[in-house]
Amino acid sequence: MSEKVDIFDTTLRDGEQVPGCKLNTDEKIVIARQLEKLGVDVIEAGFPVSSPGDFQSVVDIAKAVSEPIICGLSRAVENDIIVAGEALKHAKRGRIHTGLATSEVHRVHKLRMSKEQVLEKTAMCVKTAKKFVEDVEFYAEDAGRTDNEYLAQVCEVAVANGATVLNIPDTTGYCLPHQYGEKIKYLLENVKGIHKAKLSTHCHDDLGLSTANAIYGVINGARQIECTMNGIGESAGNTSLEEAVMIIKSQQELGVHTNINTKLLTETSKLVSEMMNFPVQANKAIIGDNAFAHSSGIHQDGVIKHRENYEIINPADVGNNISAIVLTARSGRAAVAYKAKLIGVELTKDDLNKVYDLFIEVADKQKEVLEDDLKKILKQAL
Ligand code: KIV
Ligand code: ZN
Repeated sequence: MSEKVDIFDTTLRDGEQVPGCKLNTDEKIVIARQLEKLGVDVIEAGFPVSSPGDFQSVVDIAKAVSEPIICGLSRAVENDIIVAGEALKHAKRGRIHTGLATSEVHRVHKLRMSKEQVLEKTAMCVKTAKKFVEDVEFYAEDAGRTDNEYLAQVCEVAVANGATVLNIPDTTGYCLPHQYGEKIKYLLENVKGIHKAKLSTHCHDDLGLSTANAIYGVINGARQIECTMNGIGESAGNTSLEEAVMIIKSQQELGVHTNINTKLLTETSKLVSEMMNFPVQANKAIIGDNAFAHSSGIHQDGVIKHRENYEIINPADVGNNISAIVLTARSGRAAVAYKAKLIGVELTKDDLNKVYDLFIEVADKQKEVLEDDLKKILKQAL
């Protein structure tokens, strides 16, 4: 039986921390409604204590969206948690996400706390959050660089005080996939009471491993992925929602599924990119403009004969209906004949030879041969 992996979207919190990506409340509501349509399980709507605007956004999103759990971030600071609880009052299902750093480097050089003090703060923040909501997610910031034995102690305290989800962030994107996977496995095997909580991945992309790490987390028992549309997020970004979801959908051997309506991935990506004024690179997996484009003759010939020769995902499954064959100087006869047919011209072998010679002349002079260029070539050659 396939097990469900929850999708925790933090585009509006971790994603919105990115310089230049700030949204106003109305824009956040538009994105939150789209995320609800997409089928995410949790929307992290903001960090209520950080500003009156962010507080109001969490309140308004909680009122506007009813299906997903609405989550608000807080530090392990009593007032943060009280303010988060207040903002989440209107949520049908609210979750407080609270915690603090656990790695030696953060503990010594940022928090300036002993291990014991971190354990005390862990108990305090979870206990305080429980006064406002039943659903409390604890994060161990920089868990990626935290020694597993100590991390297990912290998690045990969080669970003993009622945490329902344990977030294991690789805040600095440091872990290798097998190390992150082993961390999740270690916690599942060594934290007393772990069956009462769900383990969550939250992986940053500093070494380009955020999605791989999240998937290794799932392989080793995590059942929630924290991610953002287009992989937007603090520093090098976060696990990309579209990548994690499509890996899970494409690789059935993982034995897990999500509730995401993948046909809405492309439109959701475009909405987030436009609203946050944050362009998506053309070669970005799943939703980049070139993700399903083929320009070399070998690939084009293969795709025209049988799409699956070169495509592991049907573009329609992610809501991408754009033609995949791009004519360039690397294109072969099969692609030229295919594109000519699409504009209503069936070419015989002799005609194709004539058209192709002229096509290559034109293609060598420009980056791409567009439909209008092809029409002119056909007219001139035939
Ligand atoms: O990356 C991180 O550690 C975070 C936490 C605040 C959850 O975003
Ligand atoms: Zn983060």
